[in-house]
Amino acid sequence: MNQEQLEALRNDYSESGIDPDTLPADPVDFFDIWFRQAADAGISEPNGMVIATADQLENLSQRTVLMKSFDQHGFFFYTNYASRKATHLQRNPTVSCLFPWLALHRQVAITGTVSRASSANTERYFKSRPRASQIGAWASRQSERLEGRHILEQRVSEFEDRFKGGDVPVPEFWGGYHVNPSRIEFWQGRTSRLHDRYVYTRDENDSGNWVLESLYP
Ligand SMILES: Cc1cc2nc3c(=O)[nH]c(=O)nc-3n(C[C@H](O)[C@H](O)[C@H](O)COP(=O)(O)O)c2cc1C
Repeated sequence: MNQEQLEALRNDYSESGIDPDTLPADPVDFFDIWFRQAADAGISEPNGMVIATADQLENLSQRTVLMKSFDQHGFFFYTNYASRKATHLQRNPTVSCLFPWLALHRQVAITGTVSRASSANTERYFKSRPRASQIGAWASRQSERLEGRHILEQRVSEFEDRFKGGDVPVPEFWGGYHVNPSRIEFWQGRTSRLHDRYVYTRDENDSGNWVLESLYP
C-alpha cells in the first residue's frame, strides 16, 4: 500500500451515537451493555483489553490481556506476578486499559489503580482453566529472556511430569489483578469525525460518586 492509499484509509461512521439521556449513573452498567453488544456482534475476543503501565521512571509499556470478570468494583485480569507488567504495577499501580471494539466503531478507555486479587479469587479462576494452560503458567517465566523454544517445551514436560496424576496447584507467582477505575470513557464514532465522547470520573469528595461529562471529539 502506498502513502496515498494509506492516508485515504478511513471510515465515515454512520452510527446515531450515544443518547446522553440513556446513560446510567454507574458507568459499569453502561460497560455491561456495550460489552454484551460487542460479544453479540461477533467481535473476536471482546474481552481483550490493552493495558498500559509505567514504572517509577515513566518507562511505558502496553500489552493485551483478557479481562476475565467485572462488577461495580472493577475489572479483573490474570497474569504472572513476576512479569514486566507486574514489576511496573508493583512500583506504580496506575493502569490504563483500552477495549478497542473497532468493528463497532467504539472504544472504552479506563484509568485506575490495581490491587492483587484475593488468593480465593485467583484459585477459583485458575481451577477453571484448561490443564494445559495451568501447566503453561508454571512453565512460563513470563517476560524473561528465552534462549530457545525447546527450553520452554522442556519446562512444559517437566511440569507435566511433576503434576502427573493430580491437580495442578496455583503457582505462587501467578494471579489476578483488580483494576479499580477512577475514569471511564465511552467513545462512539460518528459521521464527519464528530464523534461522541462521554467520560465518567469518580468524585472522591462526593462518596466516590461518578460525575458524567462529554468531551469534544
Ligand atoms: C489476545 C491476547 C490475550 C492475552 N491475554 C493475556 C492475559 O490474560 N494475561 C497475560 O499475562 N498475558 C496475556 N497476553 C500476552 C500479553 O500481551 C503479554 O505478551 C504478556 O503478558 C507479557 O507482557 P509483559 O512482558 O509486558 O508483562 C495476551 C495476548 C494477546 C494478544
